[in-house]
Amino acid sequence: MHFKKEFLDKLIAAKKIVFFTGAGISAESGIATFRGKDGIWNKMKPEELANFDAFMRNPQLVWEWYQHRRDIVNKAKPNAGHIAIAELENYFDVTVVTQNIDNLHRRAGSKKIFELHGNIERNFCINCHTYYNSAEITLNDKTPACEKCGALVRPDVVWFGEMLPQEEFSEGERAAEWSDICFVVGTSAVVYPAAYIPISAKKAGAYLVEINIEPTELSSLAHCSIFGEAGVILPQILEEVKKIKYVN
Ligand code: OAD
Ligand code: ZN
Repeated sequence: MHFKKEFLDKLIAAKKIVFFTGAGISAESGIATFRGKDGIWNKMKPEELANFDAFMRNPQLVWEWYQHRRDIVNKAKPNAGHIAIAELENYFDVTVVTQNIDNLHRRAGSKKIFELHGNIERNFCINCHTYYNSAEITLNDKTPACEKCGALVRPDVVWFGEMLPQEEFSEGERAAEWSDICFVVGTSAVVYPAAYIPISAKKAGAYLVEINIEPTELSSLAHCSIFGEAGVILPQILEEVKKIKYVN
């Protein structure tokens, strides 16, 4: 891949880097994205699964679906894209702001991660807010109930119509605003408020770089669009960084 000079110049000068990631970065780990031809939302209706009313109507169905996704995520491994981001911490102050709930950035070794849409490994009681790890939960023929108060336990993920975790969002936004480069990787960037992150970064003066297999809503805003698979492009960027840092 031949990167444009403007991008390489920014990379040489950069100190703080933010990666704003979406489902596309985990696609090469075998985890389906949401939109696009094989997207989850083509096969499953979000209104039947990913909202609070659906959960109250049929908690067992929603639990089975999340348990299924948990199995997929646990069997998946971080790919070359996640690993390159983690390795870039050796050269920059890196923050990951992710819409993914799959833990793959953490498993790849990234340290500073803000999860805007929750985490599939965490669950909480809808009544008393006691937290439970997924490993503590067994799904027999019953929906998990809170050990303290008996109310329903739900996955700690953001469903449609729900607020984002405010601290994660504001910390993520702050990191984006302070960044020299904001990479937008593998996201269709159509789900708000998460998609404000790269917009805020650009407004605050960050250089906006998109990595995606195809153009997105953000392409017209990005200073630089790099089209290709995240698992291919990110290791190439890491190689460029290594060259730059060895020369200087
Ligand atoms: P989408 O499914 O909307 O978008 C995935 C993006 O990844 C698309 O733009 C693809 O072109 C791109 N892509 C696919 N494979 C790729 C690869 N190997 N390398 C690079 N890019 C690739 O997923 P998100 O943008 O993450 O929210 O969706 C945002 C939110 O919508 C999700 O967090 C979820 C969903 O509803 C909640 O559950 C709250
Ligand atoms: Zn409880």
